[in-house]
Amino acid sequence: MSKPLLIANDLVKSFPVSGGGNQARFRAVDGVSLSVDRGKTLAVVGESGCGKSTVGSLLLRLQDADSGHILLDGEDALALDRAGLRRFRRRVQVVFQDPFASLDPRERIRDVLVRPMLLHGLCDRATALKRAAELMDAVGLSATQLERFPHQFSGGQRQRIAIARALSVQPDLIICDEPVSALDVSVQAQVVNLLQDLQRDTGVAFIFISHDLAVVRHLAHDVAVMYAGRVVERAVTTELFGNPYHPYTRALLAAAPRIDVGAKGHALLAGEPPDPANPAPGCRFAGRCPHAQPSCTAGDQPPLSAVVPGHLSACLFARDLPPFAEAQSNAAHTPAALRVAAYRRARDREARSGDAEGLRT
Ligand SMILES: Nc1ncnc2c1ncn2[C@@H]1O[C@H](COP(=O)(O)OP(=O)(O)OP(=O)(O)O)[C@@H](O)[C@H]1O
Ligand code: SF4
Ligand SMILES: [Mg+2]
Repeated sequence: MSKPLLIANDLVKSFPVSGGGNQARFRAVDGVSLSVDRGKTLAVVGESGCGKSTVGSLLLRLQDADSGHILLDGEDALALDRAGLRRFRRRVQVVFQDPFASLDPRERIRDVLVRPMLLHGLCDRATALKRAAELMDAVGLSATQLERFPHQFSGGQRQRIAIARALSVQPDLIICDEPVSALDVSVQAQVVNLLQDLQRDTGVAFIFISHDLAVVRHLAHDVAVMYAGRVVERAVTTELFGNPYHPYTRALLAAAPRIDVGAKGHALLAGEPPDPANPAPGCRFAGRCPHAQPSCTAGDQPPLSAVVPGHLSACLFARDLPPFAEAQSNAAHTPAALRVAAYRRARDREARSGDAEGLRT
């Protein structure tokens, strides 16, 4: 088996507690370990505030971890010199939720795409211009639009431009932090399928941070579920959705489609996450867990360990949970999931008939 592209081990990041005095801090990320393989997608899911974006920014080296390790192709990403950090920044790119905020409104799209290539010394200007035109085509836009400004595009088109910009420096990994959440559902489906196509064509890996379990199920090869700053379950996507071994994951799947907004007819997870500034001993999910036992709150936080090979859970009683019926999961049959699948079928039909133009935004 080949080595993972990126490995994070035991990452910790704390912040000051607001109004908590000089010394008081809480751990937004509390010992997170994960890995992503070359050319694959790891999804990171969990409720708002569980630390997903903080993990993303640690992996991007936008913030420094208090402790832990990040290895990119075996190289320690936390011990890089200036030149090494520059290389790292080329290899690990980001796409944020709000494409408008991440694009300079005064910059033409041509410059948005050309500048990173020149900055990293990848090619000369003529080659960069040629490549910018190819990138526009790759993300379903046209080279004739290169002279435009961001405000002249729709939200979905701007996100395509943000994806093209990330791809312009031929990264190994793109961290996508809620990249489709701000988009209309039908446009979401197109962007999700675009990401899949680009992965197939370029071999880029994604870490896909999302609230949307339907999209995650469609897109990700592996999933890490976060709760209160920790990864509580990790598995191959089909395994995780088919046979979750943590009561929190089960609750999320039952509350799907989106973790954050209980759509009508879907129960939201009962109770509140623990106060991160003042965590109780033992399992942090105990206050909301239907399977909690006295021993759950007696010792340290349960470690993430293998229940079956490749499937990790941080529940002390993972092996004793009642069987999980796939039918309990709402995530496969949501409007978003159905739209994504329908879009792909329609696009494949058009591609077979040699005309994919009609589906481009
Ligand atoms: N720079 C910061 N200073 C202080 N607290 C922070 C900072 N960044 C994040 N936090 C806190 O850390 C916790 C985790 O935040 P984070 O943004 O990583 O969560 P998230 O899972 O991405 O949430 P969402 O789904 O809403 O985007 C939150 O309590 C947040 O308020
Ligand atoms: S360790 Fe106990 S409280 Fe925590 S998830 Fe498992 S059963 Fe629930
Ligand atoms: Mg976030």
